[in-house]
Amino acid sequence: MEGLDPERLPRHVAIIMDGNGRWAKKRLLNRVAGHEAGAESVRAVIETARKIGLSYLTLYAFSKENWQRPEKEIQALWQLFRRFVRSERPRMIENEIRVRHMGDSDGIPQDVYAEFQALIRDTAHFDKLTVNLALNYGGRHEIAQAARRFAEEVRAGLRAPEEMTPEVLGSYLMTADMPDPDLVIRTSGECRVSNFLLWQIAYAELYITDTLWPDFREAEFVEALREYQRRERRFGKTSEQLSEERLAPPV
Ligand code: IPE
Ligand code: IPE
Ligand code: MG
Repeated sequence: MEGLDPERLPRHVAIIMDGNGRWAKKRLLNRVAGHEAGAESVRAVIETARKIGLSYLTLYAFSKENWQRPEKEIQALWQLFRRFVRSERPRMIENEIRVRHMGDSDGIPQDVYAEFQALIRDTAHFDKLTVNLALNYGGRHEIAQAARRFAEEVRAGLRAPEEMTPEVLGSYLMTADMPDPDLVIRTSGECRVSNFLLWQIAYAELYITDTLWPDFREAEFVEALREYQRRERRFGKTSEQLSEERLAPPV
């Protein structure tokens, strides 16, 4: 891919797909038309991620807070999601893409969830690219659930409180077997994280673009990856330390 260093790709990219409503409004369309156009961007971004060779792509599609939206919009979103699962299924299998769910099942219409589960099951053995769909997801809920599971194991005598460390907490999250996101992209200009992967983005690079989600396609995605490659990730160290490490990599 033009201008991208294949040696320095992020392992995990997470995207807050925002701006469907504003995209529709600009065209005097209803919000649902914006979500439909946004689904095309989801398809395009997954295809690009696969082509480039990314390992993990996490897409924030529906938050816990999004239940507060008008009932009609919520229903349309689930119908759209069902259509997406059906139409993308052959492509996911052909391209050997593993699909996973991050979030809770409760509240998602059962028939829609069943089709989604079937896709998850039928792609579970693929390892080229993992696409995590964050649906009915909230970062605080995820951390609270992890804390609760740990507490239950303490009560059952399987764990001791002093065993709790950042690594142990991380192992109770839905991302336990994945690297943390290296890059978080948010479209449509809002500078906030909206309860997305709160724990996992501790050291992620943030990229915010004014482009609305339905307009975010391959070219915009590649530009975000180029910008990522221009950044220096310091993880608390100094620039000088990092240059020394590059000359003599720590063993
Ligand atoms: C993102 O677009 C999609 C979802 C949150 C489901 P929005 O629907 O939030 O679009 P804006 O922010 O109103 O433009
Ligand atoms: C964040 O977008 C959630 C998703 C993209 C699914 P929102 O549009 O819900 O975020 P806020 O409410 O503007 O922070
Ligand atoms: Mg929004």
